[in-house]
Amino acid sequence: MELPLLKDADVKGKRVLVRFDYNVPLKGEKVVDDTRLKESLPTIKYLLEGHAKVIIMSHLGRPRGKAVPEMRLDAVAEHLSELLHKDVEKVNDCVGGEIKAVAESLNEGEILMLENLRFHSEEEANDEGFAKQLAELAEIYVNDAFGVSHRANASVVAITKFLPSYAGLLLQKEVETLSKLIDKAKRPFVAVLGGAKVSDKIGVIRKLAEKADYLLIGGAMMFTFLKSEGKEVGRSLVENEKLEVANSLLNEEVILPVDAVFAETADSSETEVVSVDSMPKDKKGLDIGPKTVEIFSEKISSAKTILWNGPMGVFESEPFSKGTFELGKAITFSGATTILGGGDTIAAMERAGLKEKFTFVSTGGGAMLEFLEGKELPALAALKGKK
Ligand code: 3PG
Repeated sequence: MELPLLKDADVKGKRVLVRFDYNVPLKGEKVVDDTRLKESLPTIKYLLEGHAKVIIMSHLGRPRGKAVPEMRLDAVAEHLSELLHKDVEKVNDCVGGEIKAVAESLNEGEILMLENLRFHSEEEANDEGFAKQLAELAEIYVNDAFGVSHRANASVVAITKFLPSYAGLLLQKEVETLSKLIDKAKRPFVAVLGGAKVSDKIGVIRKLAEKADYLLIGGAMMFTFLKSEGKEVGRSLVENEKLEVANSLLNEEVILPVDAVFAETADSSETEVVSVDSMPKDKKGLDIGPKTVEIFSEKISSAKTILWNGPMGVFESEPFSKGTFELGKAITFSGATTILGGGDTIAAMERAGLKEKFTFVSTGGGAMLEFLEGKELPALAALKGKK
């Protein structure tokens, strides 16, 4: 993909407004998972070494146009400052005269972080007036927020009309790695998809069923597929309105589980492993079973490229974590090129101590899926137009 690249920008002495995706989980005043912060460091360091004045912007959560105290970016600024061993000045808004004055007073090598963009409803409305106000803070714009590329928001789309615009180092790496995965994956290429809903993943399932040699399906969405084949799935999570489309996605490359772990609820310690041909009416399926892990692991062990998005079960609860953790081990020990995506799956692999063993961890959840599906992402299209 032809993107204007940061390395071609002359940033020396300039105010550079960088959009990151710092939509990270917070617990009180603390950042719980700092993957997205760590992944943004190369671009920040590049700018600092290039003597730029760095102005950072991001959203966090879905405050829907209101200032929500728990969604302020102070904890993020503090954490970033610790990672960089450097001061990060944080202001309480992202536009307006006062903010502009602070931005204009920045010296080379200094960092300013703006407040959560989504405190203004104009951000999600892709409002040009708001984008212009943001643009007035700087001389150059850099988009390094791959995770938000699928949103037509002012800070990633409309803003490119007002400033020379470039793709940051992380955005470039994400786009290059995922493009290569779709166009030139070494075979066998095995895709593993999990998570709760088929509806979130129909497009990507369709694409991967066509591109991958095998598509292994786990997570609660397996029950929609199994029910679409006429199986009794008990009280398992099912999207009844998606049965037909789920069934239409099945082909020889799509491999469904042969057994599952069932229980009363996700809090039960009493569990039973059952074949998918005899799932109990009064219980729900919460993980893939051991035979499935074996079958999936065999496919994984012969793969040269593996893509994984979505946990295999309710991994947060120990009795239902084996499918996800065992598969994580099989994937990371396979010797294949491995690509991991999706917030929950990344959290599971972090917990298992396996995250660092993946070849590439995408910071995009929805954005990664839509990119792989082949959709044109609005933020990338806006940048491409600037090349
Ligand atoms: C994400 O975490 O996937 C991105 O930051 C997008 O967030 P959103 O789904 O709230 O737009």
